[in-house]
Amino acid sequence: MASEDVQRGLEDVVALESRICFIDGKGGRLLYQGYDIRELAARSTFEEVAYLLWYGRLPTPAQLEQLTQRLAALREIPPGLREILDRIPKDSSPMDVLRTAVSALAIFEPEETKPGASSIGGALRLTAILPSVLGYYHRRRRGLPPLPSRPDLSHAAYFLAALDDRAPSPLDVKALDVALILHADHELNASTFAARVTASTLSDLYSAVTSAIGTLKGPLHGGANARVMDLLDDIRAPERAEEVVKDRLAKHERIMGFGHRVYKVEDPRATILREWSRQVGEAHHDLRYYETLRALEGVVHREKGLYPNVDLYSGSVYTLIGIPEDLFTPTFAVSRVVGWTAHVLEEYQDLRLIRPMAHYIGPTDLHYTEPAERA
Ligand code: CMC
Repeated sequence: MASEDVQRGLEDVVALESRICFIDGKGGRLLYQGYDIRELAARSTFEEVAYLLWYGRLPTPAQLEQLTQRLAALREIPPGLREILDRIPKDSSPMDVLRTAVSALAIFEPEETKPGASSIGGALRLTAILPSVLGYYHRRRRGLPPLPSRPDLSHAAYFLAALDDRAPSPLDVKALDVALILHADHELNASTFAARVTASTLSDLYSAVTSAIGTLKGPLHGGANARVMDLLDDIRAPERAEEVVKDRLAKHERIMGFGHRVYKVEDPRATILREWSRQVGEAHHDLRYYETLRALEGVVHREKGLYPNVDLYSGSVYTLIGIPEDLFTPTFAVSRVVGWTAHVLEEYQDLRLIRPMAHYIGPTDLHYTEPAERA
């Protein structure tokens, strides 16, 4: 093998077959189990999309009701995990908190929800508990008492309520619900791949999701939307977009929220979130973000020919509905946990240990020396 044969970053490598998610990078389409994301964002709910990704079909009303009730019933944090969360420093990274909580949860879980080789019980439990963990941590650092599990609330409404006592408007809840739908899966992205690698050793669902959260934490995967908000702070007004972008490009800096490894046209998730950024901006009487982002889009397309990705508009929606910047990546996890678990369950069905190879470029003729003889 030669160095040029190495597929660095596994770019363009097709590693497995999957029925869960299809990305048409040239046509700008994203499908979950065959359904276009645009239809799902317009007509579905996060709970329905979770069912679709796990079971491969849309639920009947009775199946949806049952799933919604099961999710709501699994929100409770076990006392052992609460004790751990109470001891975590209040200034910890929320992604560290989430990763620690999922790892610890496996220890405190009752036997019946422990995942078997293909159990959906673990997927439900992990999806249900992530908003509770984030809410518990965020309220604790703000000196607020934890929220009871509120089975009357949808997943999106419960997440917002878990963060803040302020009652969110139905439009804010819908905006979050759509954002959760749009982030729920994206084929073999790095964190999903990490989850599948872990599952391919026949390890359990909780370990796979712990691997995925650690992988999502890196700024090259989760986190670009928070950096878009920093860029907006820098730009301040639409008419300054050109100057700031040109300045950054002259310094060879990347403009966050633009470009994509797979999409060669506009990311369909960006198209939907652009409209939600406008709607939420109008409802909150604050169109600053939306207007500045529109100006930014124009300049970046003119200067670099790049299209927006999912991260361009999501931060503006989150900020307006009251999600703080350091919870943007954890919010991604609150949604993507559905995709991670769907992929892990698929991996268990068609298991093949994932174990690529490295092209060795080190020496092959060294001999052991006694410690005293080493320079
Ligand atoms: N700003 C400025 N230039 C860019 C950008 C950008 N955002 N994205 C790509 N380019 C340029 C890059 O400099 C290079 O130019 P040249 O050929 O002159 O050196 C060319 O485009 C190709 O770049 P690349 O890194 O080979 O392209 P890629 O397809 O591997 O990059 C990317 C994909 C997402 C890493 C990149 O577009 C990027 O860094 N974007 C900013 C970060 C960001 O928004 N990330 C969120 C991605 S969407 C999340 C998800 O789907 O999970």
